[in-house]
Formats: sequence, C-alpha cells, structure tokens
Amino acid sequence: MRTEQPKMIYLKDYQAPEYLIDETHLTFELHDDHTLVHAQLVMRRNPARGAGLPPLVLDGQQLELLSVSLGDVELGASDYQVDDSYLTLHPKAEAFTVDTSVRIHPETNTALEGLYKSGSMFCTQCEAEGFRKITYYLDRPDVMSKFTTTVSAEQHSYPVLLSNGNPIASGPGEDGRHWATWEDPFMKPAYLFALVAGDLWCVEDTFTTMSAREVTLRIYVEPENIDKCQHAMTSLKKSMRWDEEVYGREYDLDIFMIVAVNDFNMGAMENKGLNIFNSSAVLARAETATDAAHQRVEAIVAHEYFHNWSGNRVTCRDWFQLSLKEGFTVYRDAGFSSDMNSATVKRIQDVAYLRTHQFAEDAGPMAHAVRPDSFIEISNFYTLTVYEKGAEVVGMIHTLLGAEGFRKGSDLYFERHDGQAVTCDDFVKAMEDANGVDLTQFKRWYSQAGTPRLQVTEAYDAAAKTYSLHFHQTCPATPDKVEKLPFVIPVALGLIDAHGNDLPLRLAGETEAVGTTRVISVTEEDQTFVFEGIEAKPLPSLLRGFSAPVKLSFDYDRDQLMVLMQHDSDGFNRWDAGQRLAVQCLQDLTQQYMQNSTMVLDPRLITALGTVLADHSLDQAMVAEMLSLPSEAYLAELSDRAEVDAIHAAREFARAQIAEHLYGALWQRYQANRAISRDTAYIPEAEHFARRALQNIALSYLMLTAKPEVLEATLEQFDACDNMTERLTALAVLVNSRFDAEKEKALATFAEHFKDNPLVMDQWFSVQAGSTLPGGLARVKALMQHPAFTLKNPNKVRALIGAFAQQNLVNFHAVDGSGYRFLADLVIELNALNPQIASRQLSPLTRWRKYDPHRQALMRGELERILASGALSSDVYEVVSKSLA
Ligand code: TRP
Ligand code: ZN
Repeated sequence: MRTEQPKMIYLKDYQAPEYLIDETHLTFELHDDHTLVHAQLVMRRNPARGAGLPPLVLDGQQLELLSVSLGDVELGASDYQVDDSYLTLHPKAEAFTVDTSVRIHPETNTALEGLYKSGSMFCTQCEAEGFRKITYYLDRPDVMSKFTTTVSAEQHSYPVLLSNGNPIASGPGEDGRHWATWEDPFMKPAYLFALVAGDLWCVEDTFTTMSAREVTLRIYVEPENIDKCQHAMTSLKKSMRWDEEVYGREYDLDIFMIVAVNDFNMGAMENKGLNIFNSSAVLARAETATDAAHQRVEAIVAHEYFHNWSGNRVTCRDWFQLSLKEGFTVYRDAGFSSDMNSATVKRIQDVAYLRTHQFAEDAGPMAHAVRPDSFIEISNFYTLTVYEKGAEVVGMIHTLLGAEGFRKGSDLYFERHDGQAVTCDDFVKAMEDANGVDLTQFKRWYSQAGTPRLQVTEAYDAAAKTYSLHFHQTCPATPDKVEKLPFVIPVALGLIDAHGNDLPLRLAGETEAVGTTRVISVTEEDQTFVFEGIEAKPLPSLLRGFSAPVKLSFDYDRDQLMVLMQHDSDGFNRWDAGQRLAVQCLQDLTQQYMQNSTMVLDPRLITALGTVLADHSLDQAMVAEMLSLPSEAYLAELSDRAEVDAIHAAREFARAQIAEHLYGALWQRYQANRAISRDTAYIPEAEHFARRALQNIALSYLMLTAKPEVLEATLEQFDACDNMTERLTALAVLVNSRFDAEKEKALATFAEHFKDNPLVMDQWFSVQAGSTLPGGLARVKALMQHPAFTLKNPNKVRALIGAFAQQNLVNFHAVDGSGYRFLADLVIELNALNPQIASRQLSPLTRWRKYDPHRQALMRGELERILASGALSSDVYEVVSKSLA
C-alpha cells in the first residue's frame, strides 16, 4: 500500500538507464515460510549516458535486505540508502558487481505479482514491474541482461524446478533438498524472468523447426490435469508452424515450456522459454471446456508463443510502448485464429468485442492513446485500447501496405531491432523504410485517444453517371485532449447494383476500373471521392471487414440494410448490416418502452432473420452470429444515456418475438444439429464449432416460448451430451427460464459432478451470475458462500463478480444502488488482497456518466467511499481518482 500520493509518470521524461546489467546470477532458496534470494549483478556505466558515476538506484519493494556488497566489499549501513522503493548505492568504478541477499514471503503474497504460491506450487509473474518484489534490480524493459538461475527446494514437494532457457546442472542438496540451474543465452529484461517449483507432471512432444532443429515441447500441470493438455499442445505446434510460414519466424531455444497455474491475474505470460499460463488458458477437453474455451486456449497459446519474437527478441524500450508488443501480437494471434477457423466469424467476434468494450473505454474517464503519454500505475494500462485497438492500428498498416509490403516491413523490423528494446516509432519506421512510404500522419493513431466518427453522405449525378461519397471525420474530446487532428482512415468499400452485384470501381482521374473492393484513405476532415461510369444509383458497402476502428454512420434505410444482409460480397458487412438493422429496431422498442407505449417490433427484422435461417448455403457459424442480437452492453455504448431497463426490456421483447415467429425454422435447425451432435464424437474444429453454435443459439431462442417440447429437448441435451458446450448451454437456458424445479435440479447435478474441477465450477458461477431474472444480487451473495468460491482466486472473482457487474446490467444497475454498494465493498476488500484485480473489477463504476442523474449520484457516492476507505493501492487510486475528476 502506498504511503504517499502516487506519482504520475510521463513519457516525455524518458531517459536511458545510467547503468547496464550485463549478467544476472540468481539463487533462490525456497522454504515454506520464507524464500532467500541472492542476486549477483555484473554491471557497468551506460556509455550512452556519458562520463561520471551518478548514484545507482535499484528498484526493490517488499524486500527484507540481508546484505549488500559492491565488488568484494560488504557494505555497512552508512554506505547505502534503502527505503520502500529503492536501494541506492555509490559505485566507484565504471564496471563493478553488486551482490544482494534478501528475504521475501511468497507464501503470503496474495497480489500474485513477483514470486508467489498458487496452491502448493511456487511461480512468478514479473510483468510489468513485479521483478522488484523479488530482488533489487533495474526493473525496466530497456535494461537487458543474461540470466543464470539456480533454484533449490525440498525435493519431495517440489520435484520440478524450472526457469528460463536451458537446464545446465542439477543435483541433490542437504536435508532432502535438491537444486537445478538454468541458463538463458538470450539477453532479456527482468519482466521476462520466470521461476516455477512444484509437483508437476508434463506432457511432452517435439517440433522440428524450418531449419531442422528439434525443439522439446512440454506442458506442465498438476497431476489431475494431465488429461487436459492435448489441445494446447496441438495449438502450440500449429502456432510454431504458422509463425514460420506467415512471418518467417523460427523458435530459438532447445526447449519451450508452458506451466498452468490456478491463481493468475491475467490470461498468460510470455516469459522466455517458460510461459506461465492461467490454467483456464491451457486446460481443455470436450467434457470440461466449451468450444469458446477451446478457441481461447488456441489463441492464447499462439499469442504467448508469438511474443517470442514480437516482445522478447524485440522488446519495449519503456512501458508507454506496451502496444508495440501487445497490439502487434494480438494482430498476429488474430491472423492465426482466422487461418485456423472461419476468418469472417473471427473478425465478427473481434469487432463486436472492440466496439462494445474498447469503444466504451475510449469514451470513459480512463481513455488513453494506444501509446499513452502518462500513467500512475502501469498495470492499469493492460487495456483494450493497448491490446485490441493497438491490433487494429497494426491491421490498418497491413491494409495500407498490402500483405507483401507488410511482410517486408515486419522482416525489416525483426532484423533491424533483434536484441533491442524499441519504440512504436521504430516499428512504424521499419514499415516506412521497407515500403518507401510516409506514415507521419498515420502515427496519430498512436498518440490521440478517442474513437473517431466518420459521417458519410452520398450524391448521385445521373447525367454525369458519377457517384460521390463525402467523408467527414471528427474525434470526440478525451480527458487528455480536446482538439484532435485528422486521422488517416483506410476505408475499404464497394458499390452494389440493384441486383446485389459488386460494381467495378473507377475513381475520377483513372482510366480503368480497379477491382470491386477499393481501399481509400480518408486523411482530411472533409473529403469527397467520386466514382465514374456508374449507370444507376448504387448502394454503398462501407468499411468492409471493419477496415478502421471508427464509428461510421451512413443514412441507410431498413430495406437497404436487408439488401446488404443478403447480397454484400463482404461477409463481415453482411453481418454488420444485420446488426445495424437490429440496432434501429431495438432503438425503436427502447423508445416505446420509455414512453410507456405498446412495443411493436418492425417485422422486417424477423423477415431478415428468417431469410438467414433458411439459407443453407451460409456457414452455420455465420448464421449463428447473424441471429445474435447486439448485446445490451453494445446498445448502451451506442446511446448517450444508457437506459438499462429499457434496453433490456426491448431486447428481450425482440428475442421473444423472433422465437415465436421463427419457431419452426429454429426448431428444425436445432433438431438437425442436435442429431448430428448426438452421433459425432467431439472435435474442436471450425465446422463443429459452427454446428454447435447454431444449435445452441436456436435452443436459447426456442426456450423463450417455454413450450414443453423445448424443455424436454433441453433436458435431453443436458443429460445426454458428451461435451461442455452443449451441457453449459442447456444449463444456461434452464437458469434463464422459469422452470424452477428443473433449474435447481440441473444446477445441483452439475455442481455435484464437477465440484472438484475449479474451471468448470467457474462456468457454473458465471451462468448464475449472468441471469437477468430478478434477485440477481441475492443469488450472487449466496454463491459467494459456496465452498468452491474464494476472493483470493482471480478466476473466481471474474466468474462471479465480474460476470454480475459486467454482463448482468439490469441487476447490477438496480435502481436502489445495491449492486453499486456491493461492488464497492468488494473493491475495498480486494484492494488489500490483490490490487490489480480490484482495479479491474472497478471499471463498471467508472462509467457513471452514462446513466441517469439518480444512478450517477449513487455510483459517484460509491467511488467516493472507495477513495475515502484508507490506504489505497496505486492501481485502485488511479482509476478512482481519474473517474471522479
Ligand atoms: N504480457 C502478457 C500478455 O501476453 C500480459 C500479462 C500477463 C500481464 N500477466 C500479467 C500484465 C500481469 C500485467 C500483469 O498479454
Ligand atoms: Zn501479450
């Protein structure tokens, strides 16, 4: 906990380090009630900082300093200064060694940062600034060092001792202990350090790289999970091959290890040669993990593996550059997932997520640029903006340069900066240099926060046969800046004729048409593009594939949207047209609800969805996506004032209408797919994901009719299926129904069967936390008393509290403020246990400006109560204080 007001750190203050650490030799003595860490640092003055020997300021927090030596001389208390955050030494030569010994307490570390225990296992999480909780160090990513690590522990409880790189020696010790030494030949910053000790089993495989080197692959898990590693291993091998084929990147050590831990703040961590994963991001098999969980495992395994180049071999100069590795790596893992599954469906899911959650972040009090220029606590900047919007920015570079140009740029980037700690500007410079282009204006995407708006208007001149599109771009003010300069917005577009066909596109000044999808760059506040040789007024298909992270508006009428839904040659835009149509219809219903008038759903939405359902040529996963109405959270994001009750009522009304009118088609699709599921062994592949996706969304619609035959089908699926995708859907459908007896029975059966599997129990908690039926808060409070729940495990917190506050809008925003009070109490409690988790759970309260004055006051009140609650972590302090500002 902080003792004084946390300080804001600015990018503009960046300075290269005063000293460098060429070698880092660590020794860990792990014990049940403490750990001893000895560090020998081989250091020298950074020549880039010129002459003189300024004080050496090492980072260190929550360390008990036992001894410190400079060279061979042990220092006395008057030779150094030590406080809560730093150890300051006074070197007498350009080159020297520093030896420190410290005592730390992983066994009581509930923040899950630094060295900590997860169950009986020791593990580390050092990114971003956790290494300073392990030993005194220059804990910054531009200080790269060669690490050697010796770990010693009691042999029986900790037979497996791991660290980065290659194992070089091991042996027995005294008192039933043993030790192992690991050496990492690659220079790396401290945030990539890792250590694991425990009673672990592993699944082993090998991979032969493109230059014919054989790499040992191991996934380490607790013994009971050894049967849930195959999917991650398959995903790893696919990722390794894909990175060779698509980016020309080869793995570089003889061994690559993944360790699954139950207590982890995020998804996973790319430590060099020793990735540490949240068990939810590794373990998957048919009976326990859904299709979505299987796809998440595949994506995260790939993401962490890809960091070996985009993150480890080339790392960040400072934490303001976080998107350099995260935005690029998300872009890379999305490309991988697209190639492994349906590319259009992957794009739809990513865009829906970005538009709902990143757009909301960009419109809230924590809005920041992809490369922020200040922060209080870096852990708060592992955000949707840095990750997902950052990936969109890389994707726009790809769109502007084309696949070949982009590859030339990434090759140059990796070659030029291998072994270095660099900036987002360096990344863009490599793209520019490899392609001979100027991306100066484009770089505003890195420095300006906020979601740009792009208003498009059309004009058709029948006499001249020209069709003009006018683009007007603006960007709303964000807390850091009011006035924004125009962005470079790549807009992929097509024009569709009356028969639904794409027209060849010829821009004014061109002699020939060039293709039917063009990417135009909107670079000015106002800009017009004129297409020639257009025989009749076309229908524009704009922002195909979501070519830029903007809010595009064009005055489509509902009939035009129905044409686009059926005929657009761009799959993403077919889906998006359906979403736009649904948004319009749902906004009508929301208005009607608020005016107390009878709700009437525009029948065109039903007609349109009926057409989609009847189209057996469409990928079933596409059908499932098109049948999914925009989420309540997205509808809230789109409105100036989020009327949660009206939005919920409108959406539920529309769903019931769809279920009633399309009952026959839904039932037919459900039964056909359930029949195949019944006869097919579970396979985690796209075609099967697609079938189950449609089957399950059909079931959730059908249950809205509460017909006995649907209840019967749901119970049959729940009892007889062989996989978690079908079982969990059946459970969710029951939980959201009024069949109370069946619901309670299913919940009890499920919990009894899976009580020993924490990841499955997380799903059981989430399904209940997400139920929008009345009484949500009471159910969540009761579930917190369940033996499987604990606030100390982040997955449990996310499954129950996160699901309630982020996905159950009507219950969380109960007008009496009970949801807000509940969340604030939890944040105060979590602040003391795990600041990173506390700060993340807080985010729904920070959006208070979106709600009515009554709710605004309640939410602010809770934020103020948190602020006044005592010693806040810098994590929580930053989010609360910025939200109230
Ligand atoms: N670099 C990790 C990633 O791949 C992020 C991460 C894992 C992290 N654990 C963390 C960030 C803990 C902050 C704190 O995205
Ligand atoms: Zn990452």
